[in-house]
Amino acid sequence: MKKIKLPVHIALIMDGNGRWAKRRFRPRAYGHKTGVQNMFKVCGHAFELGVRIVTVYALSTENLKRPKEELDELFELFRTFFGKKRDKLREAGVKINVVGDITALPPDIQEDILQVTEETSQYAKGLLNICINYGARQEIVRAVNAAVSYGRFVDEKSFSSLLYTGGIPDPDLIIRTGGELRLSNFLLYQAAYSELYFTGKMWPEFSKRDLERAIENYSARDRRFGNVQEE
Ligand code: IPE
Ligand code: IPE
Ligand code: MG
Repeated sequence: MKKIKLPVHIALIMDGNGRWAKRRFRPRAYGHKTGVQNMFKVCGHAFELGVRIVTVYALSTENLKRPKEELDELFELFRTFFGKKRDKLREAGVKINVVGDITALPPDIQEDILQVTEETSQYAKGLLNICINYGARQEIVRAVNAAVSYGRFVDEKSFSSLLYTGGIPDPDLIIRTGGELRLSNFLLYQAAYSELYFTGKMWPEFSKRDLERAIENYSARDRRFGNVQEE
C-alpha cells in the first residue's frame, strides 16, 4: 500500500451475506458462515496494517425481527465463535469487547461472551468491538435513562461516556458492504464526523485488498470538522 494516513478506528457494517449466498444458490446461513470467516480475515488484516480499533456490526436490534430459523442459525454461529473458536480469537491478540444488549441471547452464549471478554481484557494488539443486538437509538435512550437515574445534566463528554462505546474514540471511517446507502441504526451519535465508504461488494467477498482501497480512499479525504482547513 502507498504511504497513507491510517484511520485509528474503522467500523464495518458487514452487509450482504444473504444475497451473496442466494447468488450461489446456497442458504442464507452459508452466507453468514462465510461472513464470519471473512471477518477474521479482514479484521486481522486491519490490525496488521496498524489500525488500533475495529468495530463490527454483527446483529442489529432490528435483526431480531428476522425469522426464528435464521436467528437460530446466527446464534449457532455466535456459539461457535465465542465457544469453539475461542482459541482462534485469543491467538489474534486483540481485546474483545461486545457492544449491545446481550441479555436477548441464549444464556450459554452470554456466558461464553463474558468469558472471552474477560480472557482478552489485557490483550494489547488492538481492540475489536463486536456489536450484537446493537441499535444506536436503544443505546442513546439507555444513556439518557442512565443520566436521569443519576439525576444529573450531561454535556457531550459525559454523555458519550454513558454510551456502550464510552472511552473509545469515534470511528474515523465507516465502511458498509452490500450496496445499501444507509447506516441502519449503527453508531448514530459516534458517526457525527466519520468518513463514510460504501461498496457494492457483498460482505463475504470483501477482501483484504478491498479494505486497503477503502483506507486509501479515506486517506485522500480532507477532514475539516466544520473548520476551514484540514485538522
Ligand atoms: C448481514 O447480512 C448480516 C446480518 C444482518 C446478520 P444480511 O443477512 O443482511 O444479508 P442481506 O443484506 O440479506 O444480503
Ligand atoms: C445492517 O444490515 C445490520 C448488520 C449488518 C448487522 P441489515 O441488512 O439489517 O440492514 P437493512 O435492513 O438493509 O437496513
Ligand atoms: Mg442486509
